[in-house]
Amino acid sequence: MKEKFGFAPNTDEASRQAFVASLKKFVNFDVEAQLADLFDNQLVSAANSPPANRDEAAALLEPHPLYQLWSSLTFHSQNLMWDAVQTTTDRTIEDQVESYRALSQSPDCKGSVSLSDKLCVKAPVATTEIHRQPGGYWREKRSDDIEAALNYSGTVDLYRNAKGMGMGAKPSADAIGQFVAAIARKYAPDLEPRSVLDMGCGTGEQTLAYKRAFPDANVTGIDVARPFIRFAHGLAESEGMAIDFAEMDAGATAFDDESFDLIVSIIMFHETTKAQVHDIMRECWRLIRPGGLVLHLDVPYQPDRMPLVKQVTNNWQVRHNGEPFWSGFADLDMKEEAIKAGFAPDSAFATYEGQGPAIYHFFGGRKPS
Ligand SMILES: C[S@@+](CC[C@H](N)C(=O)[O-])C[C@H]1O[C@@H](n2cnc3c(N)ncnc32)[C@H](O)[C@@H]1O
Repeated sequence: MKEKFGFAPNTDEASRQAFVASLKKFVNFDVEAQLADLFDNQLVSAANSPPANRDEAAALLEPHPLYQLWSSLTFHSQNLMWDAVQTTTDRTIEDQVESYRALSQSPDCKGSVSLSDKLCVKAPVATTEIHRQPGGYWREKRSDDIEAALNYSGTVDLYRNAKGMGMGAKPSADAIGQFVAAIARKYAPDLEPRSVLDMGCGTGEQTLAYKRAFPDANVTGIDVARPFIRFAHGLAESEGMAIDFAEMDAGATAFDDESFDLIVSIIMFHETTKAQVHDIMRECWRLIRPGGLVLHLDVPYQPDRMPLVKQVTNNWQVRHNGEPFWSGFADLDMKEEAIKAGFAPDSAFATYEGQGPAIYHFFGGRKPS
């Protein structure tokens, strides 16, 4: 194995990526604050009647040069982000693929990776370059490819911190997973999970947190993006952790009924569709054991807690920044979705939890013992 497995920028690349992070933070905080001030103190008072919904608010904002500047800065800083991580990936990809092969073929392999040629990846992951990541989550350019995963992994903390959704000043790579594990303990203090399923595990950094939090449990991560599943497996093996990864749709898994004590996900649902939300919640009800906990984390952009101007900028992300289901997800009542899937009204929940500067939407339910 030639170098450490994973996204590894050199000093110049890290500096450029830090510049993009600062630019994105400036746009997301300073420019958006100016936009809110313009909206609240000038546009609403000059309007014939106050806007009643996000479409009416958008009609007030869209002609204004400050909104157009915000939109242009958001779009181009996203392009800069992908350019900046691609430089690192281009420099390291051949060595990284070689490292992946060495790790996955090692006789000391602790976990497993399972890929399925039968999986049919659905929209929007199949049809959209999510976050406008060039090639999307699943493009493969070479055998055993992990390029899409390296690029995604290189942007995660940059993007989350610039959105104010990081876990504090110097977070570890698995900080959000640790947060979910802590919330699982808070909601089900008596639960000692023997088996954990991480749905939409992506590049696997957070899946590692569940093995660290519940070392005696069998931990499994599933995702529809093949380069991500390979990368997650390589990452776990590089850390000497026994985790099983499989290419699988969370709405139609191959697991037996009642296979897991704890089912979790991190920001997967807002990258699905309304139909997939129903399928995945029903699958959670089928897969969770009596006494087990289903606990999902996703974006906290529900309209009842967002000012109109934020609803407009979020909806811009839907139309122009590769976030097709952001508003659609936020419009859903996830407690209702859990109840429709089978959870009893008094055990289903949809709430908010915060840590550091971040607040996230948590939803799911507990199956009676
Ligand atoms: C924003 S990423 C989050 C990844 C990871 N949980 C993390 O926190 O870094 C969402 C992930 O959900 C996956 N995903 C979307 N729809 C899915 C589905 N129906 N089944 C399994 N994974 C899915 C995507 O491929 C992507 O890796």
